[in-house]
Amino acid sequence: MDEDRVSAPASETSFLPSATDRPAATLTGPPRTPWARRQPVFVGSPAMPVPRLVPAALCAVALAAAGCGGSESAASPGEQAYRQFACAGCHSLDGSDGTGPTFKGLAGRTVTLEGGKQVTATPAYLERAIIEPDAEVVEGYNPGLMTAAIAGFDLPQKPEDVRELVRFIQSVK
Ligand code: HEC
Repeated sequence: MDEDRVSAPASETSFLPSATDRPAATLTGPPRTPWARRQPVFVGSPAMPVPRLVPAALCAVALAAAGCGGSESAASPGEQAYRQFACAGCHSLDGSDGTGPTFKGLAGRTVTLEGGKQVTATPAYLERAIIEPDAEVVEGYNPGLMTAAIAGFDLPQKPEDVRELVRFIQSVK
């Protein structure tokens, strides 16, 4: 029985010497006989995943950089963060007032803080407003609310997300 199996593939697949050599050499040991059956699968399978893996890998790289799939309507990383970290619940993008000031036109604007001090909403100001919401409180708004709402997101430990959020705020003109 074993001899039949070995000799049949040997003559049919002579164009693939390694495919026939290996089972012939290992057939003596029963634990290695799976080689004989596995061989045809092995020959075909390495070629299959490669074409699928390469675009997938490229897509993963592109995703990290800019987003993949070519969909123009996909939200920017900053906009995704704006929704993911609940900012959207308190900060509008259309100028309407909410629990917090709107993001529309915020970047570069002069902001009046509690106590009357006026500051310009530079990227550094915006970053601080996100990491330490109560360090400078916007006049007319309640301190503490934002701190409590986003404490669980641990944004001070996520500088890349904070940068994206600032970039997003700057884009809301
Ligand atoms: C629970 C409501 C709430 C949430 C959620 C919230 N904020 Fe705020 N935010 C406020 C309030 C109220 C103020 C104004 C008081 C202050 O300055 O802390 C404020 C102030 C700000 C300011 C300064 C605005 C200005 O006009 O100078 C920025 C920037 C800001 N938030 C960004 C964010 C971002 C980014 C998120 C999401 C990670 C977020 N906020 C989540 C309530 C919130």
